[in-house]
Amino acid sequence: MYDILIKNGTVVTHEASFDWDVAIRDGKTAAVGVRGSLEGGSGGSCGGAAKEVVDASGKLVMPGLIDPHVHIHHPFKDGFSADDFYSATVAAACGGDTTVLDFAIQWDQSFDLSATAQNRNSQFEGDAVIDYSFHACPTVSSMETVEQVPRLIEAGIPSFKLYMTYSRQGRMCDDGVLYEVLKQTAQRGAVVGVHAENDAMCMFNSDQFVKKGWDVPRYFPLCKGNLVEAEAVNRVIYMNREAGGSLYLFHLTARQSLALVKEAKGRGENVTAETCTHYLLLNSDRYDREDGVNFICSPPLRSEEDREALWKGIREGFISVVSSDHCGFTAEMKRRGGGRFPATPNGLPGVELRLPAVYTEGVKKGRISINKLVEILSVNPAKVFGMYPQKGAIACGSDADITIVDPAKKKVVSAAGLHSPADWSPYDGMELCGFADTVISKGKFVVREGSFCGCRGAGRFVKRMCSER
Ligand code: URP
Ligand code: ZN
Ligand code: ZN
Repeated sequence: MYDILIKNGTVVTHEASFDWDVAIRDGKTAAVGVRGSLEGGSGGSCGGAAKEVVDASGKLVMPGLIDPHVHIHHPFKDGFSADDFYSATVAAACGGDTTVLDFAIQWDQSFDLSATAQNRNSQFEGDAVIDYSFHACPTVSSMETVEQVPRLIEAGIPSFKLYMTYSRQGRMCDDGVLYEVLKQTAQRGAVVGVHAENDAMCMFNSDQFVKKGWDVPRYFPLCKGNLVEAEAVNRVIYMNREAGGSLYLFHLTARQSLALVKEAKGRGENVTAETCTHYLLLNSDRYDREDGVNFICSPPLRSEEDREALWKGIREGFISVVSSDHCGFTAEMKRRGGGRFPATPNGLPGVELRLPAVYTEGVKKGRISINKLVEILSVNPAKVFGMYPQKGAIACGSDADITIVDPAKKKVVSAAGLHSPADWSPYDGMELCGFADTVISKGKFVVREGSFCGCRGAGRFVKRMCSER
């Protein structure tokens, strides 16, 4: 007897779409078979009836989506972004996610990186409604950071994020440590992610812009122009080549950076590029609006030329992952900087709308296939970050993490209908379709007919593996 049988849907994998039914037992996918074959014990790998049947007629059945880049309860000055670990994971689940990866940032350098990760875990525990992990994010430019690498990998955290900027906020690791971490991880099959922006350029430009009074949002994309990102991408790709490592570029935005990724991949280097929902849907015109300050995020929103280049990069396989880079500040928090970008918290809320945004602008508009959507929102994040095929797959023995999408369901976005306490959305007023209808996390319903029905604390830390090299 199965716990759940999902029938009559179209199972979408990164390779193809199939008229398959899916059966779940004890939190795992127990059987996958052609439509009708899993009922009444008449076929599939294990026959039998189910305690509960989900009729997925007209719907798309995908491996549970994974957002590998969210910031929950993220500090800024003397406060934090609006979400807590419950509300952010509820929002993620309602957006079709069954796993999120956040960051254990070493804000307090009196704790080493391992202790920072343990503290982050205890913040999630008891509150997360879906599975989670985090990238280890060191801020100390010394041997201490390098020595922590094997300990984090052993603890099931085989991915790191190093900031190449934000030296003034005490977040940056210098190039000496970055290169050593690339070498250490290369030996072990772990992955180094970077926030790639040239720190000196960021500081110099910002100081000059402030002196001239150019500190309102419309100058922000000029202050952090494409070169600021592309120079850092160029440098870290070179370091990674020398180290023989595995490099992940968080939030790639500039067409010049993309060209560097193409070259690196062409040379056979292990470089994975991610972009984010907002760089695919929005452009820098947002900074000219009255609410331009809301859209301050790093790197900045770019031109239409960059936006289309990113879609092309996804189509051609040079960009492998789309994350939300969710960071949920309210409009009031955004205004606390007095409308000046250097004093404004960076980041946009977006975890709940990644799926419909990519579906509407990508699949519906013919830019990418539905299989590519599954690849960039689920399969590749699982593979790159050491969770595949436990996650990111609909296959016997995989976790029963399943997202059922209603391609016909349309909504005009309004923050009031979303679950993050951030009281605005970058996509407010846009009509989106392709929302999650049903979300199953390890065999338990967390979303039914678009409404949250999960349990606080049901989410677990995912112990991740180093990827095969
Ligand atoms: O602007 C961005 N990406 N904000 C996310 C949080 C951070 O400060 O890294
Ligand atoms: Zn970043
Ligand atoms: Zn981020």
